[in-house]
Amino acid sequence: MLPKINPLQTSSWKALNDHFANNDFELRTLFQYNENRFKEFSLETENYLFDYSKNLADSRTIELLLDLAKETELQSAIKSMFAGDKINETEGRAVLHTALRDFSDKEILVDGENIKPGIKKVLDHMKAFSESIISGSHKGFTGKEITDVVNVGIGGSDLGPVMVCSALKHFKTRLNVHFVSNVDGNHMAEVVKDLNPETTLFIIASKTFTTQETMTNAKSAKDWFLKSGATEADVAKHFVALSTNIQSVKAFGIAVENIFEFWDWVGGRYSLWSAIGLSIVLAVGYENFEQLLRGAHDTDVHFQTAELENNVPVLMGLLGIWYRNFFAAGTYAILPYSQYLDRFAAYLQQGDMESNGKSVDRNGEFVEYETGPIIWGEPGTNGQHAFYQLIHQGTELIPADFIAYAKSVNEVGEHQDILLANYFAQTEALAFGKTEDEVFNELKSSGKSEEETEFLLPYKVFAGNTPTNSFLFKELTPFTLGQLIALYEHKIFVQGAIWNVFSFDQFGVELGKVLAGKILPELEAEGNVETHDSSTNGLINYYKGNK
Ligand code: F6P
Repeated sequence: MLPKINPLQTSSWKALNDHFANNDFELRTLFQYNENRFKEFSLETENYLFDYSKNLADSRTIELLLDLAKETELQSAIKSMFAGDKINETEGRAVLHTALRDFSDKEILVDGENIKPGIKKVLDHMKAFSESIISGSHKGFTGKEITDVVNVGIGGSDLGPVMVCSALKHFKTRLNVHFVSNVDGNHMAEVVKDLNPETTLFIIASKTFTTQETMTNAKSAKDWFLKSGATEADVAKHFVALSTNIQSVKAFGIAVENIFEFWDWVGGRYSLWSAIGLSIVLAVGYENFEQLLRGAHDTDVHFQTAELENNVPVLMGLLGIWYRNFFAAGTYAILPYSQYLDRFAAYLQQGDMESNGKSVDRNGEFVEYETGPIIWGEPGTNGQHAFYQLIHQGTELIPADFIAYAKSVNEVGEHQDILLANYFAQTEALAFGKTEDEVFNELKSSGKSEEETEFLLPYKVFAGNTPTNSFLFKELTPFTLGQLIALYEHKIFVQGAIWNVFSFDQFGVELGKVLAGKILPELEAEGNVETHDSSTNGLINYYKGNK
């Protein structure tokens, strides 16, 4: 089980408070007085460089944060997760997405049973099935090869595969993989409008197989398919399911051999490594999917074995806590300098915010400190021309992660150097800003009058001192993508463990679902609705009058 330590009660938290109150953490000064700062505050692994030197922290800060990790017994929490303890206590489940990417011979037990053979069986099934689809040996109901795949799922059954398929576009098979998640019928309508039912495969991806959005979309997909003249018997050639709920899948009419199983110890937002990854396998081929898993496992090994001070996810998590709880930074930006990572921030929003968006601790008490921040971001350089203004000169402190690749997958003219010049320039500008003196000299040498200089000066000053981490990978491959995703998964784990919250449930999404279930029949019934508050009644009745 996870320790249940209130971080506020630790001596390191108190020491961090004093340390925060008594220091300036000026990046200009920190760099000026420590020539070795980059060396001391960066880690190089075989595939990437992690530079955390542009953080508002000195070696004492890191020491105290590491003390906090020790005092809150982070290492024992890490052991518990990998050992398969039921650390998702509120749901009585183990948390073992890490087992899905562990190709070693080591046994992993859940309720006394080794789960490794079951994982291998599903992977073999995914491999064989994907090969039959990609090679064209699997034929649709009119004897044609499958050309398009539609993954129908939402949340963890959508965001991970969407993100990875976009990131690994370069490794694409001949199949076109599409995603439908929103219950807004326009999503399904727009995706299927150019597809041919004879050559389309639907993957119904739902851990529970009860999620309203997915079940509604699955039914519409089946109706669309059957409208083409196909029969119920043809469904077997065009529909597969990824789920833990075998009974409901069968009831939907999907053949048993088309069910790719996974288990309740795989959390939805951690499920891309499971059967939920079937769309990825079809998009990039089984070998690449296995490389993705192996890359994530590489990070798992690092997370379990590296000393805390050299442990990348541990440092990421601790620095995040430093900003959230001591600098009161409410948000955290994810800024990949790679178009391939265009869905990475959206993916992490679920990973992080559904995990650590909690306000009750593991003792059932309300927390008296902030927990998970708002996660957001877009790929650079697009973000630079949208919201970076606020990061540079707004009133919020926004810590950010910058992610880039040294080698570009495609060599297109000078693009890569231009992209990377921006990646380097932004963290430099955010850290060191531009002082009054610098602005003054610049304005003067550009020929501005004294009056103009005085007027413009305050607007052109950049305070700087905005903290960033830089991840510079050698190249984007399935393996390094797996490494990167797992770094963030474990960062989230570190923070949840220290914040003393249960990171693997998501009861916060329940209430809205229940209320929507109650409202639905009211929308279909005759007459005005008067059962809610005046605002909800007013909105519902306006809708009923105008639909
Ligand atoms: O949004 C809540 C949630 O339970 C997520 O955790 C999950 O990823 C998503 O719904 C989809 O659930 P399912 O895979 O069971 O359809």
